[in-house]
Amino acid sequence: MRGVILAGGTGSRLRPLTTIINKHLLPVGKYPMIHYSIKKMKEAGILDVLLVTGKQSAGLYTEYLGSGSQWGMNITYAIQEQAGGIAEALGLAARYIGQGEKFVLLLGDNLFHDSLQPYMADFAKQTDGAMVLLKEVSDPRRYGVPVLQDKRIAFIEEKPSNPKSSYCVTGIYFYDSEVFQLVTSCKPSRRGELEITDVNNAYAKAGKLTYRMLQNWWVDAGTHESLYQAAAHIRKEES
Ligand code: DAU
Repeated sequence: MRGVILAGGTGSRLRPLTTIINKHLLPVGKYPMIHYSIKKMKEAGILDVLLVTGKQSAGLYTEYLGSGSQWGMNITYAIQEQAGGIAEALGLAARYIGQGEKFVLLLGDNLFHDSLQPYMADFAKQTDGAMVLLKEVSDPRRYGVPVLQDKRIAFIEEKPSNPKSSYCVTGIYFYDSEVFQLVTSCKPSRRGELEITDVNNAYAKAGKLTYRMLQNWWVDAGTHESLYQAAAHIRKEES
């Protein structure tokens, strides 16, 4: 299975740190944030990875990661001209992922303990569709919140003011290649972005969106407070 990591966006909730540098290059523990996404891919045996980022810091990514050979990996780069949303960034992987191929998508600001390996094995057995990883959180209003129905997701609400569950959809997604057609038919949301939740809801509507629960700690390090929490987890693991 191949992997796609998204490391674009504006990182507005982490200003002023992100005024001069892309969010995924900020330090977490001993390494820049992007290091941990690459490590997760490698740990799961995913050696071919597409990294999508903006123009601002692209040179710093190539300087840090290079071709990936230091990890025995092949890292390919794609540039998202403007932060048009997670689904738009994903769309840039259309030519990287082959027809009929399944793959893993990671949001580069998601830091977590679990190995991707068992989830990949489960998704490999799923005939088609998509699978997401969920985590119970204290503040679901910050995230995509799923409404669960048996072993599937009925639908997801993006950043709802009255969440219907205490779970969040993490930025760890497994897709079949049909996702690129769904991205193409996606329309910009009120904030002008192509939303990953709309793509996931298209799968949910077709009864093809399954889920698993992440077992260990998980943090979306997109705010000052959560970056601090992520650093605390990583520090424990690295000491
Ligand atoms: O972390 C999980 C959450 O991530 C989900 O629960 C939400 O459903 C999902 O929409 C997303 O919400 P965020 O508000 O945290 O997304 P954010 O704008 O912070 O972007 C997440 C990652 O995607 C980040 O690592 C940068 C990348 N990104 C984002 C945008 C908007 C891009 O590469 N390009 C983009 O245009």
